[in-house]
Amino acid sequence: MLISLNANEIIAHIHDKQLANKINLHIFQEIDSTNSFLKNINNQDYLTICCAEHQTQGRGRLGRTWHSPYGENIYLSLRWLIKDSIDKLSTLSLTTGISIIQTLTKFGISEEIAIKWPNDIYYKNKKLAGILIEITHHHDNYISVIIGVGVNVNSDFRKKSNDWSSLLNITNKEYNRNILIAELISNIQYNLQILLTDGFSSFLSLWNMYDYLYNKEIIVKHMNKQIQGVANGINSYGELQLICNKEEVIYLKSGETTLSK
Ligand code: BTN
Repeated sequence: MLISLNANEIIAHIHDKQLANKINLHIFQEIDSTNSFLKNINNQDYLTICCAEHQTQGRGRLGRTWHSPYGENIYLSLRWLIKDSIDKLSTLSLTTGISIIQTLTKFGISEEIAIKWPNDIYYKNKKLAGILIEITHHHDNYISVIIGVGVNVNSDFRKKSNDWSSLLNITNKEYNRNILIAELISNIQYNLQILLTDGFSSFLSLWNMYDYLYNKEIIVKHMNKQIQGVANGINSYGELQLICNKEEVIYLKSGETTLSK
């Protein structure tokens, strides 16, 4: 049974009432992309959030399309207008991945869930959620930080694809997206504050617990190059450590990772 997105229900499930009072929440039946909506608005609010039942032009990383069927999954974007240094946000996609994992764990889904550096959530070898971060500079040193999160919740991929999974496919249960969205908002907001005040090191041990690539032979597409090696975790800057030819160690700030076998 479809439970529609509902602003009151989302706000009611945010436990931090101070946060709940600060949020400017928009819900759409249909929109091109929740990230694009937040990119184009011009308000001065600290935190604006947008979710939709359906995206007609949902966007993934690297210009890909994010399939966004009506009423099934979470298409959520959050935008902060903050005065802070952009340098502190280089690991934001990693901490957002951790926020998604913490949300899933709270709902009892923790086994075989992992984060694939830099920012995909996997269940076994199938993608469950993705993150699209867009940061824009404004005058007076303000930056707008947009985090877009797509989580496959109630879609059934069993007959359609081997590459994708959903919470429904993992647990055989349907989920009320409003409650999941409230938890995602709380965790993402909380972790953003920690990142801005304490830096990424506080998240390293959690990352290590859920590192999908650890000790696996992988290929990283970086700029126009393909680099092969064994993934050996990340450092406190969020850089991936890759051991190439059994001895050479390199660190990568960005890239697209796949398993090589
Ligand atoms: C990826 O894994 O490639 C990133 C996917 C991000 C999808 C989300 S859905 C909500 C938000 N709006 C978009 O257009 N994209 C992000």
